[in-house]
Amino acid sequence: MSATKTALVTGASSGIGRAFAVALAEQGYQVIAVARRVERLQALLDSLPQHEAGHQMQVADLANPTDLQSLLSRFDQQHINLLINNAGASILEPFHESELSTQQNLLNLNCGATVTLAHRFLQQAEAGDTLINVASIVSFLPTPAQPMYSASKAFLAAFSECLWEEQRHRGVYVMGLCPGITRTEFIEQATRGEANGDNLPASLVQSPEAVVKEALVALKKRRHAIVVTGRSNRMMMQLPRLLSRHRLLKVLAKLGDPEAAL
Ligand SMILES: NC(=O)c1ccc[n+]([C@@H]2O[C@H](COP(=O)([O-])OP(=O)(O)OC[C@H]3O[C@@H](n4cnc5c(N)ncnc54)[C@H](OP(=O)(O)O)[C@@H]3O)[C@@H](O)[C@H]2O)c1
Repeated sequence: MSATKTALVTGASSGIGRAFAVALAEQGYQVIAVARRVERLQALLDSLPQHEAGHQMQVADLANPTDLQSLLSRFDQQHINLLINNAGASILEPFHESELSTQQNLLNLNCGATVTLAHRFLQQAEAGDTLINVASIVSFLPTPAQPMYSASKAFLAAFSECLWEEQRHRGVYVMGLCPGITRTEFIEQATRGEANGDNLPASLVQSPEAVVKEALVALKKRRHAIVVTGRSNRMMMQLPRLLSRHRLLKVLAKLGDPEAAL
């Protein structure tokens, strides 16, 4: 058996996933980078250190069942030590105005693909292996402007916590990673291209590299089921204790309004 560990990272073409791929390659992992944009994946592979590790990419739309099935065959070819279920997206149109198929696609990506990959990963996992599901602080702070996104991330947090308890007896560590606002293309999408995080107070915004650094420290300790990155995000997590549910939703409706980020 090869001594090199292998990490499969979804959504590796940008943002947090890309930062994971770079940091893991620096730590000596062989990286399998997954996303839809082939040029971005190729540019990532070309820039990764440790070329001898044999980094690979797979172009896949994870909301598409055929692409997802073909990604599963990776697990038959080699042992995956670390799975990072990071690919995710949101929708900003009011729920009733958007196409149902758009909402279902979001569920397929944020939850369906995560469950499918987690299931296959855990079937082959050995003691010492790790599953990271990238959730969000909105897992615990439902944001009315993004109902399906908030609900999908709440699912991921609960799913990760339950698996954490179930899998720790096998020596397999499961983490629900909860970043707050992170300077990625995701913010540009969430504000329809009008903000990139520079307009927000610096204390509220993390870089993808800072998120990944905290996640990898937590991965070494293998202690917590839920890892919230950034001090201000950890403070935000106190809100449900301080406010009534009704008041909390009102506050989050204001804070989560994309116009507020401009
Ligand atoms: N940025 C934030 O403020 C923030 C906060 C909390 C949590 N998060 C979570 O962090 C994760 C990464 O987001 P990010 O902020 O790094 O945003 P990002 O830069 O937009 O990255 C999203 C990644 O997901 C991939 N992706 C999107 N749809 C896909 C699909 N159908 N199939 C395969 N890959 C797909 C994208 O690649 P392609 O377009 O090339 O497919 C891209 O690599 C997401 O789960 C997000 O919910 C972000």
